Amino acid sequence: MSEVGFTTALLRWFAQYGRELPWRGIGDAYGIWVSEVILQQTRIDQGRDYWYRFMERFPTVEALAGASEDEVLRLWQGLGYYSRARNMHAAARQIVEQGGFPRTIEGLRALKGVGDYTAAAVGSMAFGLPAAAVDGNVYRVLARHYGIDVPINTTRGKHTFEALAQQLLPEAEAGTFNQALMDFGATWCTPRSPRCADCPVALTCEALRTGRIEQLPVKEKKLQVKERRLCYIYVRHEGMTALRRRPAGDIWQGLWEPLLVEDAPLPDLGCPLTLLASGVKHVLTHRILLADFYLAEPTERPALPPGYVWIKEREIGDYALPRLVEKLLESLSR
Ligand code: ADE
Repeated sequence: MSEVGFTTALLRWFAQYGRELPWRGIGDAYGIWVSEVILQQTRIDQGRDYWYRFMERFPTVEALAGASEDEVLRLWQGLGYYSRARNMHAAARQIVEQGGFPRTIEGLRALKGVGDYTAAAVGSMAFGLPAAAVDGNVYRVLARHYGIDVPINTTRGKHTFEALAQQLLPEAEAGTFNQALMDFGATWCTPRSPRCADCPVALTCEALRTGRIEQLPVKEKKLQVKERRLCYIYVRHEGMTALRRRPAGDIWQGLWEPLLVEDAPLPDLGCPLTLLASGVKHVLTHRILLADFYLAEPTERPALPPGYVWIKEREIGDYALPRLVEKLLESLSR
């Protein structure tokens, strides 16, 4: 199907099946913006009630700008993600200071909390700006119809889908088309059990043709960033200290470190342990490390687990240490 064909089919579908939402067709940038901020984190059914309440209490951007943050947050209660409400409140003040809603994408984008999606959504629906608003629904519809397997949660994916959506956008009906794509994704081309049997663009759907409806869109698995707690003990005895070389198969392979205790109780070294630093945060690509650092100064040289060697303290500079350990050692000299 040509791009014109897809766009026309979706606009026709929308005229018949588009949802009736209270902020549709009101042409009021403020009301549209409020709906978009609410819908960023809330389903339409719940969001609708909040929108009515919000618009009743703060019917204009001036009313919102004039309210206290406390009152805005109270009205937001239950929606979660309170930074959105705070940003919206701050943006309302920006708008009033500027003497009204900005009417360009760049102007909208400069408002607190307004990203590419919200700027395009508000700009197209309120001012007819020809900007494609690409939300999760749009990614799914386009990935399936055009058979695109670029992961949607990557920079390349964002660029690919935004460019395609922009190409499909009918300039004179940008707001309507954006909402048509969103509604179509939300009610027809759903993540599970999409209604392919009565889909208006089924004949040209690449995912349907190649049996990949379930596989598209593709999302890249992000490695979970896990927290790991490390407890280091700097053991000092007669100008010597103990280090070991880190083993293979873990972070910092081959680097040196003081006595490490991880997921185990602190050892008895025959003396008290002095806490020099605690909860020191160190971020690696797939890990967040939190480290505690102790000093032990026993009068007798203690037995240590296998792998540790005693070195002269003044020669510690000859050993390659992880950056985190270097940071911890700084607290020794204080
Ligand atoms: N989700 C967020 N904004 C929307 C809109 N204007 N139409 C449909 N779904 C939406």
